[in-house]
Amino acid sequence: MIDLHCHLLPGIDDGARNISESVALARMAYDSGITHVVCTPHIHEGYFDNNIEIIESTHEIFKSALEREGIPLKSHFAAEVRINPNIVAMAQQNRLPFLGYFDNQPVLLLELPHSHIPPGTEQLIAWLKKQGILPMIAHPERNRDILSSYNKASWLRGKGVLFQLTAGAITGTFGERVQECAFKLLNDRFADIIATDAHNQKKRPPELAGAYQLVKDEYGEASAKDLCTNNPLEIARCWF
Ligand SMILES: [Fe+2]
Repeated sequence: MIDLHCHLLPGIDDGARNISESVALARMAYDSGITHVVCTPHIHEGYFDNNIEIIESTHEIFKSALEREGIPLKSHFAAEVRINPNIVAMAQQNRLPFLGYFDNQPVLLLELPHSHIPPGTEQLIAWLKKQGILPMIAHPERNRDILSSYNKASWLRGKGVLFQLTAGAITGTFGERVQECAFKLLNDRFADIIATDAHNQKKRPPELAGAYQLVKDEYGEASAKDLCTNNPLEIARCWF
């Protein structure tokens, strides 16, 4: 399985706090059947002021540690970019780290606030798409606007974006409402990939196997494979 959204890099966001936590998470991911990861630390102005250089150099440290510890997990880096007006300038300066490519378009993992879909979202998505950049919305099933009116998910999807669901949302870690919403999105075939959004070993672990099993039980093995392996691999193939 391939995980395109996780916070395994040490010390640059609210994921792994140091390299030993990174290594423990990487080992856990590999042991649970994840063979490839794209590490996606937050870029969130004022909270996690990361940029490509910081992420790339931290990823080098992570990769060396994987080698030293003999963990055969393949890794690349991108970012989970919080929606904000600066994304326009970042795109113009080629400073957006992409998850990979889908239909020859670079894919941007775009994070909305959990509280709502902010004004300007539609315009930013349209602008990105015009530049040939394909936004993938991180965990729409946890957005409170979508949780309170599901038609907002259809509306957002209608703008031509990809959706990333979180494994823990499918297995129920985020509660019943989020789980219900995740299954609605799956029913409507709105999900493109499932990722862990792993932050730590206990509460938000790097595991896809539980979600894979539930999707397999409900929709068949081909769907589970598409969401956890084939689609993410299609996007990130260029790195591996
Ligand atoms: Fe995340």
